[in-house]
Amino acid sequence: MNHPIGKGFTALLFVTLAMPLLPGQTPVTLNIDLARPKAPVSPTLYGLMTEEINYSYDGGLYAELIRNRTFRSDWTGILNWFLVEKGTSSAKVSVDPNEGPSTALTSSAKLEVTKADANSPAGLLNEGYWGIAVRPNTRFTGSFYAKGSSESPLPVKVTLVADQSGQPVASRSVTVKGTAWKEYRYEMQSGNATASAENHFEFTIDRPAALWLQLASLFPPTYHGRANGNRIDIMEKLAAMRPSFLRFPGGNYLEGGNIATRFDWKKMIGPLVDRPTHPTTWSYHSSDGMGLLEFLQWCEDLHMEPLLGVYAGYSLGGQVVKPGPDLEPYVQDALDEIEYVTGGADTKWGAVRAQNGHPAAFKLRYVEVGNEDSFDRARTYDGRFAQFFHAIKAKHPDIQVIATMPVKGVNPDVVDDHYYNREQRMFELAKHYDNADRTGPKIFVGEWATREGTPTPNFGAALGDAAFLTGLERNSDLVVMSAYAPLFVNVNPGGMQWSTDLIGYDALNSYGSPAYHAQVMFASCLGDHTAESSISGAGEKFFYSVTATAKSKVCMKLVNAASTAQPVTITWKGLGDATRRARLDTLKANTTWATNTIAAPNRIVPVRSNVSLKGERLEHVLPPYSIQVMEINLQ
Ligand code: AHR
Repeated sequence: MNHPIGKGFTALLFVTLAMPLLPGQTPVTLNIDLARPKAPVSPTLYGLMTEEINYSYDGGLYAELIRNRTFRSDWTGILNWFLVEKGTSSAKVSVDPNEGPSTALTSSAKLEVTKADANSPAGLLNEGYWGIAVRPNTRFTGSFYAKGSSESPLPVKVTLVADQSGQPVASRSVTVKGTAWKEYRYEMQSGNATASAENHFEFTIDRPAALWLQLASLFPPTYHGRANGNRIDIMEKLAAMRPSFLRFPGGNYLEGGNIATRFDWKKMIGPLVDRPTHPTTWSYHSSDGMGLLEFLQWCEDLHMEPLLGVYAGYSLGGQVVKPGPDLEPYVQDALDEIEYVTGGADTKWGAVRAQNGHPAAFKLRYVEVGNEDSFDRARTYDGRFAQFFHAIKAKHPDIQVIATMPVKGVNPDVVDDHYYNREQRMFELAKHYDNADRTGPKIFVGEWATREGTPTPNFGAALGDAAFLTGLERNSDLVVMSAYAPLFVNVNPGGMQWSTDLIGYDALNSYGSPAYHAQVMFASCLGDHTAESSISGAGEKFFYSVTATAKSKVCMKLVNAASTAQPVTITWKGLGDATRRARLDTLKANTTWATNTIAAPNRIVPVRSNVSLKGERLEHVLPPYSIQVMEINLQ
């Protein structure tokens, strides 16, 4: 993150001297009593929500570079793969429906080269996810399954090729031996290449032969060096958000368009060759490289606790499994899933996890039953939820069971509320929980976003988000968790199914929207309780929250969503006479429509400055359209 130290402070001084109040505008007085803690703040307030949407995993976080590595096809041919015939070579490619390396992958690409030599090779090329990122001196790890038509060894050249120059940027020869399916692994290294996404991948051979191919995979270096792992730049952006939990695997992606296309976790564990892949609700196919264990490892990498969504018998297209005996197999599936996550290696599904490479059990405190079941027109959720709730509690009394809507008959531990709105509605919703009932279940705001700006939110959306978050912090005794959605978008044409997504990327780069930076700032300082406070003079566009941890820190969140500067007098009773320096991070823009893009990623980033506090009072001015986080160190 870009923090040009000092610039913000200069700007504030200028604003103080030069900005008189407009007619009708009043100065704000904010009085905080640090000696009077008000309510606890949940340490899990900030987390992440994620699903396969907008090429979030494939073509996004999941670092696989080959698009359609399992050679699916339609009437146009094999998707994302194209024939290569160099020089005088001649070849054809088809799908062989009867040849595949596993029961999950029963077909393959059949390349038949009738004419080729060293100067005229033939083969296949893959376009990647809108290109393939190559950086200088980078090691790539590849693999594929193959078989030949004879016992003679067949050298297969794998190459990353620059689209414009045709120059190879990394290359390797792998010898395919025999007529039985085998997995081949290789590594190759780029040299002094220019960082670019304008590259493609090629398989070529230099003689007449037939070659069957399946599961062609290629990875760059990944976060924490994990095999089958995640993109480093995007993981670093997530780490900066300090998320405490990860809600997965959806969202609508959990439900599927129908029962057959739900997140069927048992088909998404173990070796990739045993994963059949499946269509998603978001109009594209999932490679399923991001399966249950990969989600859990993602949690491990970012020190998040898993919040596991289990399929609950309702799919987006309206298909419903009736509560009762029909639902039992799905309840059992959820129990098996929980055992896969939490069971020792001596349990049936814990043993499978161990065999998949993770002997240690994961801690699981939260399970959510379904997703947005208020859309179930058959109104079966009361019964379905109760059946899951009782089965989970019977085996795992300590797990908090989350309902996706208010239910009758049983008391869920937590209910998941979702909000997608324009800026002004989010300003109103900032007060939504202030007087909410505290006697019922806790609240998880499992999806929320101010939806203005595309593909990523603009500054107006960041203001709506920041205002809304002040309300969640103030009410975090009730709102125990929250997560923005959707988290990711591939900004290439066709990459987006849902507009307004927090983090954007292409094959090479990623960037944080203003709303992303606001969340990074909010999570950078969170106390363990709110402090009693009172405010006067604030209009409809001023928002704040104060949290503190005794003897440690005070965290102030200040939002001025107005187009004019806002003077504020702040007093902190109990702060004492000492002179202190407070950290002040400011995010601001000139208009609500200002934004960051993949080409201009750093227009709106937090600027860090220091504020000198003398005693318990501060005369402060918030710039127009600004979000500020002030941290006062009490140690
Ligand atoms: O976040 C996008 C979608 O919005 C989610 O999949 C769904 O739960 C909600 O309707």
